[in-house]
Amino acid sequence: MNILLTGGTGYIGSHTAVLLADAGHTVVLFDNFCNSNKTVSARINQITGHDIPCVEGDVRDTKLLVKTLHEFQIDAVIHFAGLKAVGESVREPLKYFDNNVAGSISLLEAMQKASVKTIVFSSSATVYGKPQYLPLDEAHPLNPINPYGRTKLQVEEILQDLVKSDPSWRVALLRYFNPVGAHDSGLIGEDPNGIPNNLMPYVMQVASGKLPHLNIFGNDYDTKDGTGERDYIHVMDLAQGHLAALNYLQDHLGCEIFNLGTGIPVSVLELVGTYEKVIGKKIPSQIASRREGDLAVCYADTSKANHTLNWYALKDVHDMCTSGIRWQTFRSSLEGSRE
Ligand code: NAD
Ligand code: UD1
Repeated sequence: MNILLTGGTGYIGSHTAVLLADAGHTVVLFDNFCNSNKTVSARINQITGHDIPCVEGDVRDTKLLVKTLHEFQIDAVIHFAGLKAVGESVREPLKYFDNNVAGSISLLEAMQKASVKTIVFSSSATVYGKPQYLPLDEAHPLNPINPYGRTKLQVEEILQDLVKSDPSWRVALLRYFNPVGAHDSGLIGEDPNGIPNNLMPYVMQVASGKLPHLNIFGNDYDTKDGTGERDYIHVMDLAQGHLAALNYLQDHLGCEIFNLGTGIPVSVLELVGTYEKVIGKKIPSQIASRREGDLAVCYADTSKANHTLNWYALKDVHDMCTSGIRWQTFRSSLEGSRE
């Protein structure tokens, strides 16, 4: 298949590009580099041994998308391109609705014009909001609590309406839980600008000495050790979920939703403890107050993806830490060489 990856040089897009190319698909990347580095595409080529085209462009540029879809005879699109910082979405909601919602509409218009009607969309567990029961299955009520989450829900709804209007579309909405880790080569990984908001990249920067200590946001939750519990999923397992979804769409019209997680809740202290064991040193940390908007526990019921897609997350927290450390070492060497 010829597959276009919007946001293909980002964290999840780059790992999925490697996996799809390794599986024999022809991959084309499309990115405006607003949150990624131009050297990622060369590193994807280095890992895969393929010369993967990378088109520089914005998904709000419908014309360029139509041209790209025709030029590379695209059969299916995976739509990763989007902004994802929760705090920024609260401060600048218009930027988020424009980029994530208007950007998706532009992409869908281009796909319609080019008669490409297969799409996998990067949604998020954040669409569920505060859990009414656990684990979260796909039927759980939806109530995102910030503009970022609402952009994801709106795009899900647009895609569902599109399928109702034209049943020849094939759509998979993938609700990711907490993607972490990196490709085993250590050449690609999560590369946040500035101070990270999320736990794993923050821990990695404390470990490398870039940040002095980790703040643990609350140790008085009703959880196994008082700290927040999440469903961390290795980014290569997540990438595999995209391949499984594309395979499923080959034989299925319509729109299906799938949670992609491990189904296993892991606490902040458990994650940090594993990281310390793997790296062989202590991560300086202190207990801080709870972060506003945080949930105590969030994890997936993955049975639908397991049974329908025959997809299972295979990697554990140890693998997530090992690969993350390899990437952090390479990333530090890149930064060193830039100085
Ligand atoms: P990322 O920021 O690393 O990658 C997104 C990529 O999209 C970047 O390379 C960025 O430059 C590009 N991009 C953004 N806006 C664009 C535009 N208008 N036109 C073209 N390119 C554009 O993020 P990621 O972690 O790889 O996330 C990928 C997708 O998955 C996002 O839609 C995100 O909301 C969603 N998601 C991520 C997580 C997570 O924790 N990483 C969790 C749930 C859902
Ligand atoms: C955050 C976002 C969520 C988004 C998800 C993407 C918020 C409120 N939520 O969720 O919308 O979909 O990222 O992966 O921003 N923690 C610390 N110290 C830190 C950072 C985090 O203790 O420096 C704790 C948090 O309190 C939480 C756990 O680590 O218990 C995971 O946090 P994080 O990685 O930010 O993910 P989410 O909270 O799931």
